[in-house]
Amino acid sequence: MLVFTGFMGAGKTTASKTASRHLDVEPLDADVIFEERHGPIEHFFSSHGEAAFREREESIVLELLDRGEGVLSLGGGAVESPRIRDALRSHRVVWLDVDPDVAWQRATRGAQTVRPLARDRDAFMARFEARRPLYESLADAVLPGGTGVERALPWIEALPGGARMVWAPTDGGQYPVIVGSGVRTLDAHMPGRRFLVTDDVVGPLWAGDVPHDCRLVVWAGEEHKTLAAAEHLWRELARMEATRGDHVCALGGGVVGDLAGFVASAYQRGVPVVQIPTTIVAQVDAAIGGKTGVDLPEGKNYVGAFHQPRAVLADTEVLATLPDGERAAGYAEVVKTALIAGGRLWERVAAGAPVDADTVFACALTKVRVVAADERDGGVRQVLNLGHTVGHALETITGYRRLRHGEAVGLGLLAALRLSGQDALRRQVAGLLAGAGLPTRIDGIDPGEVVAATKRDKKRAAGDSAVPFVLVEAPGSVVHGAAVADDAVQAAVEELAR
Ligand SMILES: NC(=O)c1ccc[n+]([C@@H]2O[C@H](COP(=O)([O-])OP(=O)(O)OC[C@H]3O[C@@H](n4cnc5c(N)ncnc54)[C@H](O)[C@@H]3O)[C@@H](O)[C@H]2O)c1
Repeated sequence: MLVFTGFMGAGKTTASKTASRHLDVEPLDADVIFEERHGPIEHFFSSHGEAAFREREESIVLELLDRGEGVLSLGGGAVESPRIRDALRSHRVVWLDVDPDVAWQRATRGAQTVRPLARDRDAFMARFEARRPLYESLADAVLPGGTGVERALPWIEALPGGARMVWAPTDGGQYPVIVGSGVRTLDAHMPGRRFLVTDDVVGPLWAGDVPHDCRLVVWAGEEHKTLAAAEHLWRELARMEATRGDHVCALGGGVVGDLAGFVASAYQRGVPVVQIPTTIVAQVDAAIGGKTGVDLPEGKNYVGAFHQPRAVLADTEVLATLPDGERAAGYAEVVKTALIAGGRLWERVAAGAPVDADTVFACALTKVRVVAADERDGGVRQVLNLGHTVGHALETITGYRRLRHGEAVGLGLLAALRLSGQDALRRQVAGLLAGAGLPTRIDGIDPGEVVAATKRDKKRAAGDSAVPFVLVEAPGSVVHGAAVADDAVQAAVEELAR
């Protein structure tokens, strides 16, 4: 059974009607059936109380789930019942993940009879926060903002057992991000020929069972994320007579994803790209969100384009061959994402959780939410640069050779936490990074040179004198655009060099 969950005001009834039309079945609505049997929910609540409501709701939902087929929309609180949660595990659960402010507006706007649990805003928000982890842990598919039901359905139906999906809704295109073992072989429903771009390390390991028509191989490594490599790929595509009816598929880490995505964005003014990320960095971050590009000697990612993928297939199986150093580098991005997300993801990471499919999925969900709020990096998306200002500067001054991107980000995170005045959190993060085998200090660098390199960071607006930093107030509370004085940056970098 396809089951829609989510908070009140998430749009479950509309979504289940859409899905029912698509699947040609009658939609079932647990709240409607409750009212048929027991009268209006609001009256039942006021005369019998919430506990009695939940008890009857539980028996109705279990009965409906037992039918085994169709489309069902659940009341927002049904997931609080452990018996319902257990029963849901054998069904396909879609979470309509609505913004709490939007939910509040919808639940209260113009309602003749205000819903019983939407009378007090603070209580509403507290309930929202309490239920969010339940929705998240049960969801096979997440639709942020409740959007894209119609287009997401074929993907939801085809989701292999154990895989999970988050739908990425952006103005530049909606697409699924699928996380799970073996998903690299999924049919991405793309027309034309598939030009698989991979590197000389990943190709021999994993390209074999990824469907493709032509294979283009680049040298592995950041030093090959260049215009020269892009030109080589453009010319290969032209030589093989690739057209706009075909598509590119990037199989590799962030370097291949950024490079192939950029190539796809410009080849014949844009061909579609499917991302199959093979490193942790790429699965939790780089492959999602449509930023593509290459480096110039003057700065990292200096030339690029926004080009949203048509699908992201994050196959956790391919992480098995990742060298330890790359795994550790990916962990830095996981810690960064957990600091941004806060909540359950931060708790898990802080407690030393492994980077498994659940962690990758939670990170992907965080990235999708941030990008959905600010696709073009005009505001809140900049929080994703936490640790990157100093990180990029360290990569630039060491010629992209000495540090892996993730290692640089780890050091950058420590600098950002110092600049945030978060000593205890800095120690905690340093412990997590060191535990993963990541450096927490770097010698042989000139801090002044690092500060100078941060000033060339392309994220600065023209005329800015101070470099805008992303700072952490607490896990889950991150601010962007903070002005930080040069001497404070210098001190934070000196601490890394000590
Ligand atoms: N576009 C974005 O939003 C975004 C976000 C974060 C990072 N990035 C970019 O990503 C890049 C870093 O990505 P990365 O850390 O994935 O590095 P990478 O792509 O260089 O991969 C690291 C190494 O691991 C190898 N490798 C990849 N997958 C493997 C696997 N499954 N098994 C064995 N070896 C494997 C690669 O061949 C390479 O040698 C940087 O260029 C960074 O700027 C982009």
